[in-house]
Amino acid sequence: MNAPAHDTSVNYLGLELRSPLVPSASPLGAKVESLQEMEESGAGAVVLPSLFEYPLEMRARHPEYYFDEITQAKACLKIPVIASLNASTTAGWASLAARIAEAGADALELNIYQLSLSPEVPAAQVERAYLEVVETVTNAVGIPVSIKLSPYFTNLTGLAKQLREAGASGLVLFNRFYQSDLDLLSMGPGYTLRLSTSAENRLPMRWIALLYQHEIGYLAASTGIRTGADVLKMILSGASVTQLCSILLQRGIPWLKIINEELHDWMEACHITSLRAARGSLSHRCVENPEQLEREEYRKALQGYAKIDVPSWHDEVPLRTEAHHKTPPPVRAA
Ligand SMILES: Cc1cc2nc3c(=O)[nH]c(=O)nc-3n(C[C@H](O)[C@H](O)[C@H](O)COP(=O)(O)O)c2cc1C
Repeated sequence: MNAPAHDTSVNYLGLELRSPLVPSASPLGAKVESLQEMEESGAGAVVLPSLFEYPLEMRARHPEYYFDEITQAKACLKIPVIASLNASTTAGWASLAARIAEAGADALELNIYQLSLSPEVPAAQVERAYLEVVETVTNAVGIPVSIKLSPYFTNLTGLAKQLREAGASGLVLFNRFYQSDLDLLSMGPGYTLRLSTSAENRLPMRWIALLYQHEIGYLAASTGIRTGADVLKMILSGASVTQLCSILLQRGIPWLKIINEELHDWMEACHITSLRAARGSLSHRCVENPEQLEREEYRKALQGYAKIDVPSWHDEVPLRTEAHHKTPPPVRAA
């Protein structure tokens, strides 16, 4: 019997995964049938959409449904099931996390969204709140806990180390928060959700490459991962797994098979036989002075710009016809 030429198995949060392709938290994971389709299409694990702690009257569904879904998913799937929690109170973080673990989740991802808008609150206080959440949850559960972060921290490396010390087994870099727009025709907020592009994966790739050397636990890449090449770049940077959302929302769950084929093709082209062995081989671990390299790369990028063709900004220009067909309301005086 022939052994597979390319070993795509990885270890994430202490879980053995056959593949680094992990559909991330999204509505796609809300149905057990879809989770089964993810498994059939080659996913290494699945992340369920977040359970949000709302006041009871604001809840779309009772949290018991979420716990049932975990139990059902565990009964139907062979691949690990990672739950996701977004709570707003200390009691909520502790009690909901404990129920999630009891329901059978293999791991728990914390979707912490702590936006401070007060000019009186120093950055350290915001970070302290993250650490308290991690301490609360890791004291309440025995399963591995990963933290899904935004990229907006003053010193991500320092925070990552503290999160590790507080009990986190891994980090998911990064969450992609909804960014609001303005609709000039209605003179109000614009509510269009824009899915990501591959260009956006440079931010997680850079931070994964920088953090890998510090051994702060497992790293999962999220945002803008759409192709087999994107997946391989993240692994070489130091990620254990790659989380996919926008591409699956656009192309459908079976697109995982295409990404998997591309991953195998790229492994072949790069003479890589094992993802585990190759992980982190292009991270900043191999660089003597990462700060100097960062400055140098920045300088080179700016200077190199003059030599390439200036891209067309055409796509970003709003269609004038759309504005002509509708009459915008008069601008109100402030
Ligand atoms: C419609 C939609 C719903 C999402 N729901 C969640 C969620 O419940 N919890 C969470 O942590 N992230 C959620 N995300 C964020 C994704 O899991 C992912 O981190 C983000 O979209 C970046 O990955 P991508 O570039 O592959 O889309 C959601 C994203 C989308 C587009």
